[in-house]
Amino acid sequence: VFALAADTELAKKSTINKILSRGEIRVGIDAGYMPFEMVNKKGDFIGFDIDLGKELAKAMGVKFVPVNTDFDGQIPALLTGKFDIAISGMTITPERNLKIAFSDPYIVIGQTILLNKKHEGKITSWEQLNDPQYTVAARQGTTSEFVTKRLLSKANYKSFEKEVDGALDVVNDRADAWVYDMPFNVVFMAEQGKGKVIHLDKPFTYEPLGIALQQGDPDFVNFLNNFLRQIKNDGRYDRMYKKWIDS
Ligand code: ARG
Repeated sequence: VFALAADTELAKKSTINKILSRGEIRVGIDAGYMPFEMVNKKGDFIGFDIDLGKELAKAMGVKFVPVNTDFDGQIPALLTGKFDIAISGMTITPERNLKIAFSDPYIVIGQTILLNKKHEGKITSWEQLNDPQYTVAARQGTTSEFVTKRLLSKANYKSFEKEVDGALDVVNDRADAWVYDMPFNVVFMAEQGKGKVIHLDKPFTYEPLGIALQQGDPDFVNFLNNFLRQIKNDGRYDRMYKKWIDS
C-alpha cells in the first residue's frame, strides 16, 4: 500500500485517501453487459471494465473489489458510498453528470439495433421503427431506454431488466427490435444472434463512457484522467481493447 496522499484538509477528504487506507478499491459493475462485465463459468467477473478496474487498482497499489449492483441502482449506490467508483459502461449524460462526476471517456460507443429477421431488407434504418406498428425493446434505466423513448416515441416500448432478455425477445419474435450499446450487440450477434436477427450496426447516438464517482473530488478525477491517458498510450489499453472488443 502506498503512503497516504498530501496531508492537507482538502486532500484528506479525497476518496483517494479512503481507498489507500482501506487497501482496496470498491468498484460498481453490473454483470451481463457484454463484453464489459460478465461472469465466467467459474463465477469470476471478467470483461473490459473488470480489466480496467484491475489496472486502476494496481496503479493505486490496492486490491480490486467488484461490487455487482443493478445498473439502475448504481447512482444511488455511488452517492451513499456503497462503492468508490462505477466502471459499468456508464454513458456520460448531462442528466447524470449533474448528480455525479465522471472521468474523461475511456471509450465512445453508440446505440445500434438488433432487428427481427422478418423485417430483413424492409427496415434498413432505425428511423423506420418510429411507427406504432412496431414494438421496440430496451433496458430500463439505460440510455437505450432514454433514446428509444425520445427518438422512437411512436413505437410501442417494451422494457427489460436484463439486456440478454431484451435481445432474446427479438430472436423469439416477441419484439421487432432491440436497441442497445453497439459492443453488446456485436457480442450477442457472434454468440447467439447469427442467422436469427439482423444487426443494423451503424451507431445512431454519440455516447462517451466514463468512470463514475461522487462530485466534489477534483483530486480523484485528476488521478483517474491521468491514469486513463497513461494506459491509452503505453499499450495496456490497446491490449484490453483487442482482448475484449476488437477480437
Ligand atoms: N451505456 C448505457 C448507459 O449508460 C448502458 C450501460 C449498461 N451498463 C451495465 N453495466 N449494464 O445507460
